[in-house]
Amino acid sequence: MGEPYPKVTAHDLTRTFGRGPRAVDALGPLDLTVAPGEFVCLVGPSGCGKSTLLRIAAGLLRPSTGTLEIRTSSPRPAAMIFQDYGIYDWKTVQANVRFGLDVQRVPRREANARAADWLARTGLADFAHAYPAALSGGMRQRVAIARALAVEPELLLMDEPFAALDAQLRTILQDELLEITQALRTTTLFITHSLEEAIVLGDRVLVMSARPGRIIAERRPPFPRPRTGDVRATPDFTALKSELWDLLRKEAVPA
Ligand SMILES: Nc1ncnc2c1ncn2[C@@H]1O[C@H](COP(=O)(O)OP(=O)(O)OP(=O)(O)O)[C@@H](O)[C@H]1O
Ligand SMILES: [Mg+2]
Repeated sequence: MGEPYPKVTAHDLTRTFGRGPRAVDALGPLDLTVAPGEFVCLVGPSGCGKSTLLRIAAGLLRPSTGTLEIRTSSPRPAAMIFQDYGIYDWKTVQANVRFGLDVQRVPRREANARAADWLARTGLADFAHAYPAALSGGMRQRVAIARALAVEPELLLMDEPFAALDAQLRTILQDELLEITQALRTTTLFITHSLEEAIVLGDRVLVMSARPGRIIAERRPPFPRPRTGDVRATPDFTALKSELWDLLRKEAVPA
């Protein structure tokens, strides 16, 4: 039977940066729950507080008011993919991908095998011994993706992980992420600017308002699990995309 508690619970969450007249209300108030195994996508205009929310979820930033609680049950940690990748420039590609496994003290032989598997899946096998400085932006992003997925985290926090990739690779990795998260029932909170991506991947798509970001709408893509990328070709997909686009356009264009 499923676990009874949400993996992520935010209540009346807000975040303000700075003080006094120059303070910026970045986020909230916002309520959010993410159930075990659920894949929740967040879309919203630039600067509405999406990364701020994820950084709070990752424990890197404190809320100004309200709470955000993470409830994980296994030694598998939460993993985060940052919008700016957050990979280590002084480690090789392979060492970056193995990093979370080393932290978990996975035996070296197994860690190398899992890292090699992820390097192959993300098309980085030939660059295992290169340093990030020698990689393109899209390749650096793939290192970050491989590093996060290699640990098979219980909770995956992803901040526009595919933004720097070309359309073809983006589609391939979306399909791969679908397969992995469905197989492992990884609870995922996923930020994207792409409505297609949110609809393909999400059990729920949450639309955020302009700053300070609040959740103004929620849609459930009507595709059963396990799901594949084939849903992109359905009329339901197109209809939901245009509905979400209308919601988002009202927020993106200042009144
Ligand atoms: N450390 C910080 N100090 C001051 N202001 C910040 C800080 N981090 C974020 N902000 C402000 O908070 C607001 C929300 O930023 P955030 O990065 O969360 O937006 P976002 O929704 O992720 O945008 P994007 O889609 O462009 O990535 C912005 O106005 C930003 O300038
Ligand atoms: Mg952001």
